[in-house]
Amino acid sequence: MASRSTSPGKIILFGEHAVVYGRPALAIPVTQVHADVEVSDSSRAGIWIQAPDVNLHAELNTLPSDHPIASVIHNFLFLWRVSPFPNLEIKISSTIPVASGLGSGAAVTVALTRALASHLDHPMTDEQVNAFAYEIEKLHHGTPSGIDNTVVTYAKPVYFIKGQPIEIFKVGAPFTIVIGDTGISAPTKESVGDVRKLWEADKTKWESVFDKVGRIANKAKEAIESDSTTLESDSLLSNTLGELMNENHALLQEMTVSSPELDRLVSAARNEGAMGAKLSGGGRGGNMIALVEPERAEEVSSALMAAGAKRTLITMVS
Ligand code: PMV
Repeated sequence: MASRSTSPGKIILFGEHAVVYGRPALAIPVTQVHADVEVSDSSRAGIWIQAPDVNLHAELNTLPSDHPIASVIHNFLFLWRVSPFPNLEIKISSTIPVASGLGSGAAVTVALTRALASHLDHPMTDEQVNAFAYEIEKLHHGTPSGIDNTVVTYAKPVYFIKGQPIEIFKVGAPFTIVIGDTGISAPTKESVGDVRKLWEADKTKWESVFDKVGRIANKAKEAIESDSTTLESDSLLSNTLGELMNENHALLQEMTVSSPELDRLVSAARNEGAMGAKLSGGGRGGNMIALVEPERAEEVSSALMAAGAKRTLITMVS
């Protein structure tokens, strides 16, 4: 019998990069895209991995041990002291664009971990899956904050502060986000490394920039959690959030993690009536997000395509 698991993509709404330095960030799952893993017993010897999206058809031991998929399997087998190795077929597919800030790596790790846990009968709590996925993220991404694995594991909107217990935030009034993909794959490790160089060269300056980002994330959480009855109107909520997105984007530009392509998409969204827009994730490429009135979502999405986006997604946060 096969064991299956699926994990959503994610986007960061507020606070990327500053979150690495202990400031809060907000992230949400994006269920329109997902990673799916199926583990079953194999009649042939070995652990066979099929991941057609990344053109991978191989036996585990033929892969370098730092290969992202192989490292999940090796670490899982080591964690649970599985010996001898079972004969398995592992099928991995994902609709989450790679290296674009949508959490594809974390989603594959979490789905693969859960499918292995279920198939090999080593039940894992969400906390255990999250801690395991964080160790894997650290192998590949240098000094990640842990926000990706956390939002993907819990598949809920998360208010995240590195090293603190996770907090799920509630959404008072649903809102609509358009995600625009530059199509440029940009390794998060590099932008995180560049921000670290800036910080090392002038800690006072960058600590204060990160503080500003942290305040934006906290204000955004407050706005998102308040329902429309405590605000004059839904549009007040949206305007506040939109303005906070714009402020956050300006600070990310200051951190040098935006790019001409991202800025072009951010401007196109704002010009088409989005209430705010910013890059999302590591930056330099990958995705941007725009807050829109639901009835403007299609127009903003078309404007993003016209401005060079490779694809767009419309997602409702509720
Ligand atoms: O590029 P993404 O979506 O994986 O986001 C990375 C978020 C950063 O804050 C830039 C890094 C981190 O580890 O939190």
